[in-house]
Amino acid sequence: MILHLVGPGPGALAAPEIAREITGYGRRVEVILAPETRHFIGPAAFEDRIVAEPSELPEAVLFAPATAGVLARLARGLDGGFAGARSVFVAPDLDPFTAKHPAVKENLALLRQDGCRVIAGYEEGMASAGEVAAGVLGGLGGPMNGLRLLVTAGGTHEPMDSVRFIGNRSSGKMGLAIAREAVRLGARVTVVAANVETEEPGTETYTVETAAQLRAEVLKHAEEADALVMAAAVSDFTPAAPVKEKIRRGEGGLSLELEATADVLKTVRERFAHLFVVGFAATHGDPVGDAREKLGSKGVDLVVGNDISREGIGFGADENEVYVVSREGERFVPRASKTDVARVILESLLEEMSKERQG
Ligand code: CTP
Repeated sequence: MILHLVGPGPGALAAPEIAREITGYGRRVEVILAPETRHFIGPAAFEDRIVAEPSELPEAVLFAPATAGVLARLARGLDGGFAGARSVFVAPDLDPFTAKHPAVKENLALLRQDGCRVIAGYEEGMASAGEVAAGVLGGLGGPMNGLRLLVTAGGTHEPMDSVRFIGNRSSGKMGLAIAREAVRLGARVTVVAANVETEEPGTETYTVETAAQLRAEVLKHAEEADALVMAAAVSDFTPAAPVKEKIRRGEGGLSLELEATADVLKTVRERFAHLFVVGFAATHGDPVGDAREKLGSKGVDLVVGNDISREGIGFGADENEVYVVSREGERFVPRASKTDVARVILESLLEEMSKERQG
């Protein structure tokens, strides 16, 4: 059980979402509202999670939001009641002026020294609900604890001139969902994001634009990773001679010469034998055959195949329907949210990795 103590700060408004998210990962949450917190939010927002006293010794205690007062009492041993909990997390909720105060900084340093985990974001109020939930779930450890995962997301843009590019419809949602789930399962996650607008909290993210930049960034981080999930849609072609300025309209049409980009997966496979690699195959029609073919030709360990001719799944959509294809067989994941699909992909990755390690 995780005991969530909600302090009286503006961050209290995000507290129900934090409790809900943590519960969604199979952890029970009990919530205690400090009396003054009721000026910000009432018990009804927490469904049936409010308790007067914890029902048992909690596995972890989360102070979110933690005001400067809470931090001071915790740091100075004035709130000793939860000393039995294995882990203590605090999500400070401070205005920039308070955050810079030497005494507050000292309290945070003392808390860290004591093994308390501080979930950052405190210079501008509390970290987001997603960041706090990720901090707690990742900190408690899950099935991906200790694993370093590299994920690519989004779609590359290949410049034709100073204003135009050749791109694709990938939104990055599938890759980010994989990164988000992996953080919550305890992995250390690095994301190489091609033209994606949002950054996934709890990850280390590097942004790129072109296939060549994505390749360089992946090769830079692959050495320290245990597994790579190559969810990005990487352009297979790039203009052979991009123009620095804007191409003028002129008379008639325009022919563009394209040249092939390097296959990132193939290079990774050749250079980093230790890495467990998951590729994607976007196919018009039955994806299993194509996925199986790519499993062999690219030498990867798993291929996630989907049929991009179907409405409402895949590129840009919030849902997906995929086959996770390994050497021994395939797993069909019927239409579901990209979050749920991401969980199944990661489950398959863990299963296959453990098989490979045993074999
Ligand atoms: N991929 C890559 N490097 C490229 C192009 C694609 O590593 N230059 C990766 C993608 O990230 C994806 C997998 O290869 O994980 C399959 O991408 P896809 O475009 O479906 O396949 P291609 O290898 O490009 O083959 P084809 O388009 O002919 O099916």
